Amino acid sequence: MNPLLDQLADYPMVELARRRRDVAARGVRLFDFSVGDPHDPTPEFIREALCRSVPPRCGYPTVRGERALREAIAGYVDRRFGVQLDPATQILPTSGAKEAVFHTPLLVIDRDAEDRAVVFPDPGYPAYQRGALFAGGEAIAVPLDGDFVFRPWELPESVLRRTRMMWLNTPHNPSGAVTRLPDLERAADLCRRYDILLVSDEAYADLYHDTPPPSLLQVGVEGVLVLHSLSKRSGMTGYRSGFLAGDPDLIARLARLRSNPGLAPQSFVNAAATAAWSDDAHVAERRRIFREKRALLRRFFDEVGIEVHGSEGAIYMWIHAPEGHDDESYAALLLEAGIVVSPGRIFGVAGGGRGYLRLALVPELDEIAEAIEVWRCQV
Ligand SMILES: Cc1ncc(COP(=O)(O)O)c(C=O)c1O
Repeated sequence: MNPLLDQLADYPMVELARRRRDVAARGVRLFDFSVGDPHDPTPEFIREALCRSVPPRCGYPTVRGERALREAIAGYVDRRFGVQLDPATQILPTSGAKEAVFHTPLLVIDRDAEDRAVVFPDPGYPAYQRGALFAGGEAIAVPLDGDFVFRPWELPESVLRRTRMMWLNTPHNPSGAVTRLPDLERAADLCRRYDILLVSDEAYADLYHDTPPPSLLQVGVEGVLVLHSLSKRSGMTGYRSGFLAGDPDLIARLARLRSNPGLAPQSFVNAAATAAWSDDAHVAERRRIFREKRALLRRFFDEVGIEVHGSEGAIYMWIHAPEGHDDESYAALLLEAGIVVSPGRIFGVAGGGRGYLRLALVPELDEIAEAIEVWRCQV
């Protein structure tokens, strides 16, 4: 057996689901802010695009996907970030962002090389560490605190020298912190200097509250990749659809790599994705809903003196555990009352996230209002 399977703890959401089940079994009504899987339905025009595209015979899909999808993605990137990509050479569809997070280290990690470290923010999306380790790399988690913005130029020279790949994540899961354009530029310059593949995970790029977050693509594509997803943008978690874009040489090599396991999203999913990337109105509507949910919770937290950090984007609110509690004890207290939130430490592999809690803004607005009343009794 691969020893990594036993060395790594269960994927955090699996453990959280177990605890949630125990409380539900006691008949407690649950308000679930734990899993980032919004309850709102996928827009009808996207579902219809999928249904229309299931052919009588469905052959193998291709790794590069249909030209129409890559053109729709290029159109989106142009509208959203003002960057023109070549659909033929700079875009590759993925089956969601998670598999791409897991598989991309396979592109650059030589398990016998000195520079085989993959660096990523801590707390962070758990697959950064797992992809690095399964590829035979060294996983280096960089603890974040304060504003939860990752500043790789502060890393020691000894770490930079053995790093081959680095993940940025903006807006950041779990904190919702956003990396500004000058910081993206500085990170890209640093990585070019040290021959590090920089990948920016921008799965939440369109879910923000005030200012649209920038993309790493805006500082130039040389030596970099970005990763996007329809999961949260268009309410398509179950479809498994995203894309990698950037440096054409890297994209060409990725296409070769990904043909080995056959990582090729289904054509009917690609048809739904083409519809989704071609439309921005439904995303504006989703933003409005998340903004309302955040405003409701923000008012409550201000009222009861709970500190909110980051939370500029993504679908999360990131709060500090109140006086007398840590993240674990406060999450346990709320869980007893039926409010399921994630203790920050489950997103950390090197101590990151302790003392904070993440709320995924997934329950409906009226459920959140009810949850607030239950929560108020615990303050
Ligand atoms: C930062 C980040 N990257 C990637 C993903 C994976 O997204 P997808 O559903 O497209 O696999 C998530 C999902 O929660 C995430 O939070």
